[in-house]
Amino acid sequence: MTGRICGTGSCLPRLRVTNDDLSRYMDTSDEWIKSRTGIEARHLAVEETTTGMSVHAAKAAMEEAGILPQELELIIAATVTPDYLFPYLSGEVQRELGAVNAAAFDIGAACSGFVFAMGVAYAYLKSGLYKNALILGAETLSKIMDWNDRSTCVLFGDGAGAAVLKADEQGIKSVVQGSDGVKGMVLSCRGREPANPFMPQKQEEAPLSYVHMNGQEVYKFAVKTVPACIEEALEEAGLKAEDVKLFVLHQANYRIIEAVAKRLDQPMEKFPTCLQECGNVSAASVPILLDKINRDGKLKKGDTIVLAGFGAGLTWGACVLTW
Ligand code: ACO
Repeated sequence: MTGRICGTGSCLPRLRVTNDDLSRYMDTSDEWIKSRTGIEARHLAVEETTTGMSVHAAKAAMEEAGILPQELELIIAATVTPDYLFPYLSGEVQRELGAVNAAAFDIGAACSGFVFAMGVAYAYLKSGLYKNALILGAETLSKIMDWNDRSTCVLFGDGAGAAVLKADEQGIKSVVQGSDGVKGMVLSCRGREPANPFMPQKQEEAPLSYVHMNGQEVYKFAVKTVPACIEEALEEAGLKAEDVKLFVLHQANYRIIEAVAKRLDQPMEKFPTCLQECGNVSAASVPILLDKINRDGKLKKGDTIVLAGFGAGLTWGACVLTW
């Protein structure tokens, strides 16, 4: 037994911000952003919340999968930008959906989050503990960006994606996950500072924490680790890169995707993208892109696809599956 994706959904905030729009607020340009990353626009939350976008994406995925809220047994949400520390995003979504019979929890793993969530759901479905799962990747990254740091804020966007998995004979063939905490500070965002009355000195009000990134280190990590991880997952599935119809990669940077394609010796046509329109949406990138190719009719039953994520932690993961 394994898990098969039976439905997908996604949601982007209404506000679309182009590179030129950004250049009116900071010292940057469409040329700089596009030539280094491929990103042309991103959607930023104004009225939307991580929960609201997740619920929208979840409903679309559930409708395609033909599953009712009360039939859901498991909800796993991958996010680093929930609306509350707790209740968790997955619980908020559970409430909004009325999925009263589901066990719901969140996982971190940043840009690898959705692929890690797939791995967790796969293990549950394979074991027989649950028969279906709703998986979410959702972020409102704009709230943890330093909008005075042009080297990071231009790269990211907001949005949510979802998939419904059902226990089946065909579906996920292999999952590979990895982490390197030693290099964690290459991409970081500090949590809250302690501020209890027993601290030895009265604390200044702690500064807000924003994303810090050593872009070149992340680039080097990604182009080395992602192809190796995909090859490992393919080997475990008994397949070769040639057998794969589409590689659905985390959407951080077009140059990273080109480098991965080159290392795997596969044409760029096999690597669909949405970063031009969405920027990097961390855990939401993979499910947003998956939903796009699904709704564009690019997948038919029996196709082999690979999902791959990489990012903060550092973390990386790949999942080979039959559609
Ligand atoms: N607009 C204009 N100029 C900028 C901007 C900007 N938005 N940001 C930085 N610059 C300037 C810098 O100040 C620097 O100027 P200087 O030479 O006068 O000091 C110059 O551009 C070059 O800066 P670098 O940081 O060296 O730029 P680089 O060519 O390395 O590109 C980038 C940066 C795109 C982030 C690249 O390192 C990269 O692709 N890294 C991969 C990591 C990635 O994609 N991360 C996304 C999130 S992580 C994840 O999802 C896994």
